[in-house]
Amino acid sequence: MKPKVILTQTYQKEAIEQLQKEFNLIIVEGSSKSLAEVLKENPDAEALISFLSDKIDKHIIDLGKNLKIIANYAVGYNNIDVGYAIKKGVLVTNTPDVLTDTTADLTMALILAVSRRIVEGDDFVRKGQFKGWGANLLLGKELKGAVLGIVGMGRIGLAAALRALVFGMRVIYYDQTRKEHLEKKYGFEYMSFPDLVQQADIVSLHIPSSPETHHLFNKDVFDLMKSDAIFINASRGDLMDETYLAETLEKNELFGAGLDVYECEPQVTEKLKQLKNVVLVPHLGSATYTTRLAMAQITVDNVKQALSGRTPQNLVEEWKNRGESGESGK
Ligand code: DGY
Repeated sequence: MKPKVILTQTYQKEAIEQLQKEFNLIIVEGSSKSLAEVLKENPDAEALISFLSDKIDKHIIDLGKNLKIIANYAVGYNNIDVGYAIKKGVLVTNTPDVLTDTTADLTMALILAVSRRIVEGDDFVRKGQFKGWGANLLLGKELKGAVLGIVGMGRIGLAAALRALVFGMRVIYYDQTRKEHLEKKYGFEYMSFPDLVQQADIVSLHIPSSPETHHLFNKDVFDLMKSDAIFINASRGDLMDETYLAETLEKNELFGAGLDVYECEPQVTEKLKQLKNVVLVPHLGSATYTTRLAMAQITVDNVKQALSGRTPQNLVEEWKNRGESGESGK
């Protein structure tokens, strides 16, 4: 009998084919059943491949009576109650590294789109408003010499910072752990969080979501930002107070914002959709074919490793440290 593996949503067919060869694969999406129902019907399932939009809480983990692994198809895993999974001895893995450059590219795309008003320009042309070149038409902000404030100098934060150097930006950063080797190597400057927020022309978030980082960007913090600054979030929506951000943008107390993530995905604060000074994309950080396939392959590899009794290659930090918590950039 092949071990049962549950995949919550359909993904790259190459990965599905591999899973079908070795396992009895049950795909929840399209089955008209919820994940909880599928788990109740299949208490012998040994692996669960989850997506960032699946809430894997205590209830779900308890239903997976024989689960050995939850393999998350994302680098972020705030959708999983990892502490409880550890308690129940269920391994948790993620998909780091393969999406670092892709997400940093998306970060740059948002910075460029906001600073050079690309979406506004596109809309302008499509509406037939382009009547000729204008000296004052849709003027944006210069990137050369701008100060980029990276919050969370982990893998993705670093990849975004390196891209910014090529554009001639000065990089300042805040992280729980100071990275002096990066300061020496690339000239990045470490700052306290409030100093960074006040000095940056562009603030970009690259930290994981956790109870400690929830609404890190709240009224007090947004109010510290320069009134012509740009706010970028391609990390997690609950790091920011989205309602207050929308109010700030509406009052033009920021130059603009670029968002890939939202507090209550897939819902987006209505006011944001009415504003021209914000660029909104639907959580596309890792969305290239190559990267998504690599992420899917990692989930397959981790499931195979776990179900053959080996330690999976991408155990999340909390599992490796068994309870000792530590926050750093994604
Ligand atoms: C992740 O993997 O956590 C990203 O947010 C996906 O785009």
